[in-house]
Amino acid sequence: MNMYDIILKKRNGQILSKEEINHFVTGFTDGSIPDYQASAFMMALFFQKMNEEETVYLTEAMMNSGDVLDLSQIEGIKVDKHSTGGVGDTTTLVLGPMVAAAGAPVAKMSGRGLGHTGGTVDKLESFPGFSVEITNDEFIKNVNEIKLSVSAQTGDLAPADKKIYALRDVTATVDNMSLIASSIMSKKLASGADAIVLDVKTGSGAFMKELDDSFELAKIMVNIGNNMGRETVAVISNMDQPLGNMIGNILEVKEAIETLQGKGPEDLYELCLSLGAQMLILSKVAKDEEEAREKLEEVVNNGSALEIFKEFITRQGGNGDLIDHPDLFPKAKYIVEVKATNDGYIEHIEADEVGMSALELGAGRQTKDSVIDLSVGIELIKKVGDQVNIGDTIAIIHSNDEDKTKRSIERLLKAYSFSDEKIPSSKLIYGIVNKDGDFR
Ligand code: URA
Ligand code: CA
Repeated sequence: MNMYDIILKKRNGQILSKEEINHFVTGFTDGSIPDYQASAFMMALFFQKMNEEETVYLTEAMMNSGDVLDLSQIEGIKVDKHSTGGVGDTTTLVLGPMVAAAGAPVAKMSGRGLGHTGGTVDKLESFPGFSVEITNDEFIKNVNEIKLSVSAQTGDLAPADKKIYALRDVTATVDNMSLIASSIMSKKLASGADAIVLDVKTGSGAFMKELDDSFELAKIMVNIGNNMGRETVAVISNMDQPLGNMIGNILEVKEAIETLQGKGPEDLYELCLSLGAQMLILSKVAKDEEEAREKLEEVVNNGSALEIFKEFITRQGGNGDLIDHPDLFPKAKYIVEVKATNDGYIEHIEADEVGMSALELGAGRQTKDSVIDLSVGIELIKKVGDQVNIGDTIAIIHSNDEDKTKRSIERLLKAYSFSDEKIPSSKLIYGIVNKDGDFR
Protein backbone atom coordinates (compact mmCIF):
# COMPACT_ATOMS: atom_id res chain seq x y z
CA MET A 1 0.00 0.00 0.00
CA ASN A 2 1.31 3.46 -0.67
CA MET A 3 0.15 6.89 0.37
CA TYR A 4 0.19 8.31 -3.17
CA ASP A 5 -2.47 5.80 -4.28
CA ILE A 6 -4.62 6.49 -1.22
CA ILE A 7 -4.53 10.26 -1.84
CA LEU A 8 -5.35 9.73 -5.53
CA LYS A 9 -8.23 7.40 -4.72
CA LYS A 10 -9.84 9.90 -2.35
CA ARG A 11 -9.12 12.81 -4.67
CA ASN A 12 -11.13 10.94 -7.31
CA GLY A 13 -14.04 10.51 -4.92
CA GLN A 14 -13.68 6.82 -4.23
CA ILE A 15 -14.37 5.11 -0.92
CA LEU A 16 -11.39 4.03 1.18
CA SER A 17 -11.02 0.68 2.91
CA LYS A 18 -10.29 0.20 6.59
CA GLU A 19 -6.73 -0.91 5.70
CA GLU A 20 -6.09 2.24 3.67
CA ILE A 21 -7.30 4.50 6.48
CA ASN A 22 -5.24 2.55 9.01
CA HIS A 23 -2.20 2.85 6.77
CA PHE A 24 -2.50 6.65 6.80
CA VAL A 25 -3.12 6.98 10.56
CA THR A 26 -0.31 4.62 11.55
CA GLY A 27 2.17 6.07 9.06
CA PHE A 28 1.43 9.71 9.88
CA THR A 29 1.65 9.05 13.63
CA ASP A 30 5.01 7.23 13.40
CA GLY A 31 6.42 9.85 11.01
CA SER A 32 6.83 7.62 7.97
CA ILE A 33 4.19 9.59 6.04
CA PRO A 34 5.34 13.20 5.60
CA ASP A 35 3.27 16.31 6.35
CA TYR A 36 2.93 17.22 2.65
CA GLN A 37 1.18 13.96 1.83
CA ALA A 38 -0.96 14.16 4.96
CA SER A 39 -1.93 17.75 4.03
CA ALA A 40 -2.95 16.75 0.53
CA PHE A 41 -4.90 13.84 1.96
CA MET A 42 -6.77 16.09 4.44
CA MET A 43 -7.72 18.43 1.61
CA ALA A 44 -8.97 15.49 -0.47
CA LEU A 45 -11.04 14.29 2.52
CA PHE A 46 -12.34 17.81 3.00
CA PHE A 47 -13.68 18.11 -0.56
CA GLN A 48 -14.68 14.50 -1.26
CA LYS A 49 -15.95 13.77 2.26
CA MET A 50 -16.12 10.43 4.01
CA ASN A 51 -19.09 8.11 4.35
CA GLU A 52 -20.22 6.64 7.70
CA GLU A 53 -17.97 3.61 7.48
CA GLU A 54 -14.85 5.55 6.58
CA THR A 55 -15.57 7.93 9.47
CA VAL A 56 -15.85 5.03 11.90
CA TYR A 57 -12.57 3.51 10.56
CA LEU A 58 -10.76 6.82 10.99
CA THR A 59 -12.05 7.19 14.55
CA GLU A 60 -11.08 3.64 15.47
CA ALA A 61 -7.59 4.03 14.04
CA MET A 62 -7.03 7.31 15.92
CA MET A 63 -8.39 5.82 19.15
CA ASN A 64 -5.99 2.86 18.82
CA SER A 65 -2.99 5.10 18.07
CA GLY A 66 -2.28 5.46 21.81
CA ASP A 67 -3.48 4.20 25.19
CA VAL A 68 -7.06 3.04 25.57
CA LEU A 69 -8.01 3.29 29.24
CA ASP A 70 -9.55 0.40 31.08
CA LEU A 71 -12.11 1.34 33.74
CA SER A 72 -13.39 -2.20 34.22
CA GLN A 73 -12.47 -2.24 37.92
CA ILE A 74 -15.18 0.33 38.49
CA GLU A 75 -18.58 -1.17 39.21
CA GLY A 76 -21.56 -0.27 37.08
CA ILE A 77 -21.94 1.24 33.63
CA LYS A 78 -19.61 4.24 33.31
CA VAL A 79 -21.18 7.06 31.33
CA ASP A 80 -19.08 10.02 30.30
CA LYS A 81 -20.33 13.41 29.13
CA HIS A 82 -18.69 15.64 26.57
CA SER A 83 -19.66 19.23 25.77
CA THR A 84 -18.74 20.77 22.45
CA GLY A 85 -17.59 24.30 23.09
CA GLY A 86 -19.69 26.89 24.84
CA VAL A 87 -18.89 29.76 27.18
CA GLY A 88 -18.72 29.51 30.97
CA ASP A 89 -20.01 25.98 30.91
CA THR A 90 -20.65 24.95 34.50
CA THR A 91 -22.58 21.76 33.64
CA THR A 92 -19.81 19.28 34.54
CA LEU A 93 -19.51 20.68 38.08
CA VAL A 94 -23.24 20.31 38.65
CA LEU A 95 -23.87 17.09 36.74
CA GLY A 96 -21.13 15.02 38.39
CA PRO A 97 -22.58 15.21 41.93
CA MET A 98 -26.19 14.96 40.69
CA VAL A 99 -25.62 11.83 38.62
CA ALA A 100 -23.40 10.24 41.29
CA ALA A 101 -25.97 10.91 44.02
CA ALA A 102 -28.63 9.31 41.82
CA GLY A 103 -26.49 6.15 41.70
CA ALA A 104 -24.51 6.15 38.44
CA PRO A 105 -20.69 6.06 38.56
CA VAL A 106 -18.92 9.21 37.35
CA ALA A 107 -15.25 8.47 36.62
CA LYS A 108 -13.83 11.51 34.94
CA MET A 109 -10.38 12.02 33.46
CA SER A 110 -9.89 15.68 32.85
CA GLY A 111 -7.24 17.96 31.41
CA ARG A 112 -6.62 21.69 31.50
CA GLY A 113 -6.48 23.12 28.01
CA LEU A 114 -7.04 26.60 26.66
CA GLY A 115 -10.26 28.55 26.88
CA HIS A 116 -12.27 31.53 28.10
CA THR A 117 -12.22 30.11 31.61
CA GLY A 118 -10.25 27.24 33.04
CA GLY A 119 -11.32 23.65 32.47
CA THR A 120 -13.12 21.54 35.05
CA VAL A 121 -9.84 20.77 36.85
CA ASP A 122 -8.92 24.44 37.19
CA LYS A 123 -12.38 25.25 38.50
CA LEU A 124 -12.16 22.46 41.09
CA GLU A 125 -8.78 23.81 42.20
CA SER A 126 -10.69 26.84 43.49
CA PHE A 127 -10.96 24.64 46.60
CA PRO A 128 -7.55 25.07 48.29
CA GLY A 129 -5.77 21.71 48.53
CA PHE A 130 -7.90 19.94 45.94
CA SER A 131 -5.87 17.72 43.63
CA VAL A 132 -6.49 15.51 40.63
CA GLU A 133 -3.05 13.94 41.07
CA ILE A 134 -4.41 10.81 42.73
CA THR A 135 -3.32 7.22 42.17
CA ASN A 136 -5.30 4.92 39.96
CA ASP A 137 -6.26 2.89 43.05
CA GLU A 138 -7.61 5.96 44.86
CA PHE A 139 -9.53 6.97 41.75
CA ILE A 140 -11.18 3.56 41.47
CA LYS A 141 -11.84 3.34 45.23
CA ASN A 142 -13.49 6.78 45.28
CA VAL A 143 -15.76 6.01 42.37
CA ASN A 144 -16.75 2.67 43.86
CA GLU A 145 -17.47 4.25 47.27
CA ILE A 146 -19.03 7.62 46.47
CA LYS A 147 -19.60 7.27 42.70
CA LEU A 148 -17.55 10.35 41.85
CA SER A 149 -13.91 11.12 41.17
CA VAL A 150 -11.92 13.33 38.81
CA SER A 151 -8.38 12.37 37.96
CA ALA A 152 -5.69 14.00 35.84
CA GLN A 153 -5.57 12.57 32.37
CA THR A 154 -3.08 9.73 32.37
CA GLY A 155 -1.66 7.97 29.37
CA ASP A 156 -1.22 9.15 25.84
CA LEU A 157 -4.74 9.34 24.45
CA ALA A 158 -5.24 9.42 20.67
CA PRO A 159 -1.83 10.88 19.70
CA ALA A 160 -2.84 10.52 16.03
CA ASP A 161 -5.64 13.01 16.61
CA LYS A 162 -3.23 15.49 18.20
CA LYS A 163 -1.02 15.40 15.12
CA ILE A 164 -3.85 15.41 12.60
CA TYR A 165 -5.75 18.20 14.39
CA ALA A 166 -2.61 20.38 14.44
CA LEU A 167 -2.15 19.79 10.71
CA ARG A 168 -5.82 20.56 9.96
CA ASP A 169 -5.47 23.78 11.92
CA VAL A 170 -2.85 25.14 9.51
CA THR A 171 -4.26 23.67 6.27
CA ALA A 172 -7.83 25.06 6.48
CA THR A 173 -9.34 21.61 6.93
CA VAL A 174 -10.82 21.84 10.42
CA ASP A 175 -14.47 22.42 9.57
CA ASN A 176 -15.41 19.11 8.00
CA MET A 177 -18.12 17.21 9.90
CA SER A 178 -16.53 13.76 9.67
CA LEU A 179 -13.12 15.06 10.71
CA ILE A 180 -14.56 16.96 13.69
CA ALA A 181 -16.71 14.01 14.79
CA SER A 182 -13.89 11.47 14.53
CA SER A 183 -11.50 13.82 16.34
CA ILE A 184 -13.82 14.32 19.32
CA MET A 185 -14.96 10.70 19.47
CA SER A 186 -11.48 9.15 19.20
CA LYS A 187 -10.46 10.95 22.40
CA LYS A 188 -13.72 10.14 24.21
CA LEU A 189 -13.59 6.46 23.25
CA ALA A 190 -9.95 6.16 24.33
CA SER A 191 -10.82 7.44 27.78
CA GLY A 192 -12.64 4.25 28.62
CA ALA A 193 -16.32 5.02 29.20
CA ASP A 194 -18.94 2.37 28.46
CA ALA A 195 -21.44 4.93 27.17
CA ILE A 196 -21.33 8.59 26.17
CA VAL A 197 -23.71 11.54 26.41
CA LEU A 198 -22.81 14.38 24.06
CA ASP A 199 -23.84 17.94 24.88
CA VAL A 200 -23.83 19.50 21.42
CA LYS A 201 -24.26 23.25 21.59
CA THR A 202 -25.69 25.31 18.81
CA GLY A 203 -25.89 29.06 18.17
CA SER A 204 -23.70 32.12 18.07
CA GLY A 205 -21.58 31.08 21.07
CA ALA A 206 -21.05 27.51 19.87
CA PHE A 207 -18.66 25.74 17.56
CA MET A 208 -21.67 24.95 15.32
CA LYS A 209 -23.65 28.12 14.60
CA GLU A 210 -26.50 26.53 12.61
CA LEU A 211 -29.06 24.13 14.07
CA ASP A 212 -29.02 21.75 11.07
CA ASP A 213 -25.23 21.50 11.26
CA SER A 214 -25.42 20.72 14.95
CA PHE A 215 -27.87 17.89 14.32
CA GLU A 216 -25.68 16.57 11.53
CA LEU A 217 -22.55 16.60 13.69
CA ALA A 218 -24.50 14.94 16.52
CA LYS A 219 -25.75 12.19 14.19
CA ILE A 220 -22.26 11.39 12.97
CA MET A 221 -20.87 11.22 16.51
CA VAL A 222 -23.79 9.11 17.77
CA ASN A 223 -23.31 6.75 14.83
CA ILE A 224 -19.59 6.39 15.55
CA GLY A 225 -20.15 5.59 19.24
CA ASN A 226 -22.89 3.06 18.62
CA ASN A 227 -20.90 1.42 15.82
CA MET A 228 -18.03 0.95 18.22
CA GLY A 229 -20.19 -0.71 20.84
CA ARG A 230 -20.55 2.27 23.18
CA GLU A 231 -24.09 3.48 23.42
CA THR A 232 -24.08 7.19 22.57
CA VAL A 233 -26.77 9.87 22.79
CA ALA A 234 -26.58 13.59 21.96
CA VAL A 235 -28.59 16.47 23.43
CA ILE A 236 -28.71 19.59 21.25
CA SER A 237 -28.89 22.78 23.29
CA ASN A 238 -28.94 26.50 22.75
CA MET A 239 -25.74 28.53 23.11
CA ASP A 240 -27.05 31.82 21.73
CA GLN A 241 -26.20 33.39 25.05
CA PRO A 242 -23.98 32.07 27.85
CA LEU A 243 -25.50 29.34 29.99
CA GLY A 244 -26.17 30.32 33.60
CA ASN A 245 -25.02 33.66 34.97
CA MET A 246 -21.37 33.17 35.89
CA ILE A 247 -18.25 33.04 33.74
CA GLY A 248 -15.06 32.51 35.72
CA ASN A 249 -13.61 29.82 37.95
CA ILE A 250 -14.58 30.57 41.57
CA LEU A 251 -17.73 32.30 40.29
CA GLU A 252 -18.78 29.11 38.49
CA VAL A 253 -18.00 26.96 41.51
CA LYS A 254 -20.31 29.19 43.57
CA GLU A 255 -22.94 28.92 40.86
CA ALA A 256 -22.60 25.13 40.88
CA ILE A 257 -23.10 25.06 44.66
CA GLU A 258 -26.23 27.21 44.33
CA THR A 259 -27.56 24.99 41.57
CA LEU A 260 -26.97 21.88 43.67
CA GLN A 261 -28.95 23.64 46.43
CA GLY A 262 -31.82 24.12 43.98
CA LYS A 263 -31.22 27.89 43.84
CA GLY A 264 -29.24 28.16 40.61
CA PRO A 265 -30.15 29.66 37.23
CA GLU A 266 -33.02 27.89 35.51
CA ASP A 267 -31.28 27.28 32.18
CA LEU A 268 -28.24 25.67 33.79
CA TYR A 269 -30.40 23.44 36.00
CA GLU A 270 -32.64 22.44 33.11
CA LEU A 271 -29.70 21.45 30.90
CA CYS A 272 -28.23 19.43 33.78
CA LEU A 273 -31.54 17.62 34.22
CA SER A 274 -31.70 16.83 30.48
CA LEU A 275 -28.10 15.61 30.23
CA GLY A 276 -28.24 13.84 33.59
CA ALA A 277 -31.42 12.01 32.58
CA GLN A 278 -29.70 10.60 29.49
CA MET A 279 -26.72 9.57 31.64
CA LEU A 280 -28.95 7.72 34.11
CA ILE A 281 -30.77 5.95 31.29
CA LEU A 282 -27.53 4.80 29.63
CA SER A 283 -26.14 3.61 32.95
CA LYS A 284 -29.41 1.67 33.52
CA VAL A 285 -30.07 3.47 36.80
CA ALA A 286 -33.38 4.75 35.38
CA LYS A 287 -35.66 3.17 32.82
CA ASP A 288 -36.91 6.32 31.12
CA GLU A 289 -36.64 10.09 31.11
CA GLU A 290 -39.45 10.62 33.58
CA GLU A 291 -37.97 8.33 36.21
CA ALA A 292 -34.49 9.75 35.62
CA ARG A 293 -35.59 13.37 36.08
CA GLU A 294 -37.47 12.45 39.25
CA LYS A 295 -34.35 10.87 40.71
CA LEU A 296 -32.22 13.89 39.81
CA GLU A 297 -34.67 16.37 41.27
CA GLU A 298 -34.87 14.27 44.41
CA VAL A 299 -31.09 14.29 45.05
CA VAL A 300 -31.06 18.07 44.67
CA ASN A 301 -34.11 18.61 46.88
CA ASN A 302 -32.93 16.28 49.67
CA GLY A 303 -29.38 17.67 49.70
CA SER A 304 -27.62 14.40 48.82
CA ALA A 305 -26.05 15.75 45.60
CA LEU A 306 -24.46 18.61 47.56
CA GLU A 307 -23.26 16.10 50.22
CA ILE A 308 -21.55 14.01 47.50
CA PHE A 309 -19.91 17.14 46.11
CA LYS A 310 -18.51 17.95 49.56
CA GLU A 311 -17.32 14.39 50.15
CA PHE A 312 -15.64 14.32 46.72
CA ILE A 313 -13.82 17.63 47.29
CA THR A 314 -12.72 16.56 50.78
CA ARG A 315 -11.47 13.11 49.67
CA GLN A 316 -9.28 14.74 47.03
CA GLY A 317 -7.67 17.07 49.57
CA GLY A 318 -9.86 20.14 49.12
CA ASN A 319 -11.46 22.28 51.80
CA GLY A 320 -15.04 21.01 51.55
CA ASP A 321 -16.24 23.41 54.27
CA LEU A 322 -16.26 26.12 51.61
CA ILE A 323 -19.36 24.44 50.20
CA ASP A 324 -21.22 25.46 53.37
CA HIS A 325 -19.53 28.87 53.41
CA PRO A 326 -18.96 29.99 49.80
CA ASP A 327 -18.51 33.57 51.01
CA LEU A 328 -15.06 32.52 52.24
CA PHE A 329 -13.73 31.97 48.69
CA PRO A 330 -11.25 34.72 47.74
CA LYS A 331 -12.83 37.69 46.00
CA ALA A 332 -11.45 39.92 43.25
CA LYS A 333 -10.18 43.39 44.18
CA TYR A 334 -12.50 45.36 41.90
CA ILE A 335 -16.19 44.57 41.66
CA VAL A 336 -17.59 46.87 38.96
CA GLU A 337 -21.16 47.19 37.73
CA VAL A 338 -21.80 47.46 34.00
CA LYS A 339 -24.81 49.66 33.19
CA ALA A 340 -27.28 49.45 30.33
CA THR A 341 -26.69 52.03 27.59
CA ASN A 342 -30.19 51.63 26.11
CA ASP A 343 -33.79 51.32 27.24
CA GLY A 344 -35.61 48.24 26.02
CA TYR A 345 -35.33 44.49 26.01
CA ILE A 346 -32.12 42.53 25.80
CA GLU A 347 -32.20 40.94 22.38
CA HIS A 348 -28.94 39.05 22.32
CA ILE A 349 -25.77 38.43 24.34
CA GLU A 350 -22.88 37.42 22.13
CA ALA A 351 -21.46 34.50 24.10
CA ASP A 352 -18.08 34.59 22.35
CA GLU A 353 -17.56 38.26 23.29
CA VAL A 354 -18.50 37.57 26.92
CA GLY A 355 -16.02 34.70 26.90
CA MET A 356 -13.29 36.92 25.45
CA SER A 357 -14.06 39.53 28.05
CA ALA A 358 -13.58 36.93 30.82
CA LEU A 359 -10.38 35.72 29.18
CA GLU A 360 -9.12 39.30 29.09
CA LEU A 361 -9.64 39.53 32.87
CA GLY A 362 -7.46 36.45 33.35
CA ALA A 363 -10.13 33.78 33.89
CA GLY A 364 -8.69 31.48 31.23
CA ARG A 365 -5.49 30.56 29.42
CA GLN A 366 -4.39 32.36 26.27
CA THR A 367 -1.36 30.09 25.92
CA LYS A 368 -0.65 26.81 27.65
CA ASP A 369 1.69 28.52 30.12
CA SER A 370 -0.74 31.27 31.20
CA VAL A 371 -1.59 31.39 34.89
CA ILE A 372 -5.29 31.50 35.67
CA ASP A 373 -6.72 34.05 38.09
CA LEU A 374 -9.38 32.01 39.90
CA SER A 375 -11.28 34.93 41.40
CA VAL A 376 -11.97 37.01 38.28
CA GLY A 377 -14.84 36.77 35.83
CA ILE A 378 -18.23 38.06 34.84
CA GLU A 379 -21.61 37.83 36.44
CA LEU A 380 -24.52 38.35 34.05
CA ILE A 381 -27.33 40.11 35.89
CA LYS A 382 -29.66 40.55 32.91
CA LYS A 383 -30.14 38.01 30.18
CA VAL A 384 -31.98 37.74 26.87
CA GLY A 385 -35.62 38.82 27.19
CA ASP A 386 -35.11 40.97 30.31
CA GLN A 387 -36.39 44.54 30.23
CA VAL A 388 -33.92 47.26 31.22
CA ASN A 389 -33.66 51.04 31.52
CA ILE A 390 -30.56 53.12 30.86
CA GLY A 391 -28.34 52.89 33.93
CA ASP A 392 -29.63 49.51 35.16
CA THR A 393 -26.91 47.06 36.09
CA ILE A 394 -26.72 44.37 33.41
CA ALA A 395 -23.52 42.65 34.52
CA ILE A 396 -20.83 42.75 37.20
CA ILE A 397 -17.14 42.47 36.48
CA HIS A 398 -14.83 40.83 39.01
CA SER A 399 -11.29 41.95 38.29
CA ASN A 400 -7.85 42.39 39.82
CA ASP A 401 -6.54 44.97 37.35
CA GLU A 402 -7.87 48.42 36.47
CA ASP A 403 -6.82 48.44 32.80
CA LYS A 404 -8.22 45.00 32.21
CA THR A 405 -11.47 46.09 33.84
CA LYS A 406 -11.86 48.95 31.36
CA ARG A 407 -11.24 46.73 28.35
CA SER A 408 -13.53 44.10 29.72
CA ILE A 409 -16.39 46.60 30.18
CA GLU A 410 -16.02 47.78 26.57
CA ARG A 411 -16.09 44.23 25.28
CA LEU A 412 -19.05 43.29 27.42
CA LEU A 413 -21.09 46.29 26.25
CA LYS A 414 -20.41 45.22 22.67
CA ALA A 415 -21.73 41.75 23.50
CA TYR A 416 -25.17 43.05 24.50
CA SER A 417 -27.76 44.17 21.94
CA PHE A 418 -31.11 45.77 22.73
CA SER A 419 -34.52 45.87 21.10
CA ASP A 420 -37.63 48.04 21.55
CA GLU A 421 -39.83 45.01 21.22
CA LYS A 422 -40.41 42.16 23.61
CA ILE A 423 -38.21 39.17 22.79
CA PRO A 424 -39.91 35.80 22.39
CA SER A 425 -38.28 33.24 24.66
CA SER A 426 -36.07 30.79 22.82
CA LYS A 427 -35.84 27.08 23.34
CA LEU A 428 -33.09 25.66 25.53
CA ILE A 429 -33.19 22.05 24.30
CA TYR A 430 -33.70 21.57 20.57
CA GLY A 431 -33.75 17.81 20.52
CA ILE A 432 -32.09 14.50 21.17
CA VAL A 433 -30.22 12.23 18.80
CA ASN A 434 -29.90 8.55 19.65
CA LYS A 435 -29.31 5.35 17.71
CA ASP A 436 -32.95 5.32 16.58
CA GLY A 437 -32.77 8.75 14.96
CA ASP A 438 -33.32 12.34 15.97
CA PHE A 439 -36.23 13.82 17.90
CA ARG A 440 -36.87 17.52 17.72
N1 URA B 1 -12.65 19.75 18.78
C1 URA B 1 -11.89 18.65 18.56
O1 URA B 1 -11.45 18.01 19.51
N2 URA B 1 -11.62 18.31 17.30
C2 URA B 1 -12.06 18.99 16.23
O2 URA B 1 -11.77 18.60 15.12
C3 URA B 1 -12.85 20.12 16.47
C4 URA B 1 -13.14 20.48 17.75
CA1 CA C 1 -21.79 29.49 33.64
